[in-house]
Amino acid sequence: MTQIKAFILDLDGVVTDTAEYHFLAWQRLANEEGVSFTREDNDKLRGVSRRQSLELLMGDHLSAYTEEQIQEMMVRKNEYYQDYLEQMSKDDFLPGARELIFEIKHRGLKVAIGSASKNAKTVLSRLEILDAFDAISDGYSVTKAKPAPDVFLYAAEQMRIAPEACAVIEDAGSGVDAALAANMTAVGIGPESRVGKAHYCYATTAGIDLDEILGL
Ligand code: BG6
Ligand code: MG
Repeated sequence: MTQIKAFILDLDGVVTDTAEYHFLAWQRLANEEGVSFTREDNDKLRGVSRRQSLELLMGDHLSAYTEEQIQEMMVRKNEYYQDYLEQMSKDDFLPGARELIFEIKHRGLKVAIGSASKNAKTVLSRLEILDAFDAISDGYSVTKAKPAPDVFLYAAEQMRIAPEACAVIEDAGSGVDAALAANMTAVGIGPESRVGKAHYCYATTAGIDLDEILGL
């Protein structure tokens, strides 16, 4: 097996819990449009792009909207989401996430972000950790969303590390699929029912065992 030289971390759900803010923003939009949207529905949006999230949220209702109205709804949801992001600070890491990033660096390995979000850099700035990464691959870097491998391949390319030597840490099923499609080691965070296809699974970011992943 190729030795792991870099880690690529998903952002939302691995480094920080922005899912709640995404939920509140989508719920506000759903209320305004007269569509029901629960916390359970929100779990299906984990790792899913903004456009696809809207399609899942609106279901059959979406056919009544023009493309212009669809674009306006995506802008509106993002404005609500960005309002919530203003509350974020450097205290909003998921337990163990900040330590994990610095432990990876301490071991002489590279570390990148591979996120579907166009707000990734804003979130990393709020966490005051933007400068810690060797590469940031986000919603602006590639056009094909997870489960396509593109967002992770772009991060590997930026770091000049072969995909086989990268390990991806992901909380979404589509993200695990993307890591496997990229020929990378997949590390899943969450229940087996969601990320069980990954090479290694841990319940939380704090539970990650770097020695185990690195085969030490
Ligand atoms: C992912 C989130 O990281 O980014 C999804 O898990 C979100 O919930 C997606 O829809 C796109 O994010 P944004 O910030 O570009 O709307
Ligand atoms: Mg995620």
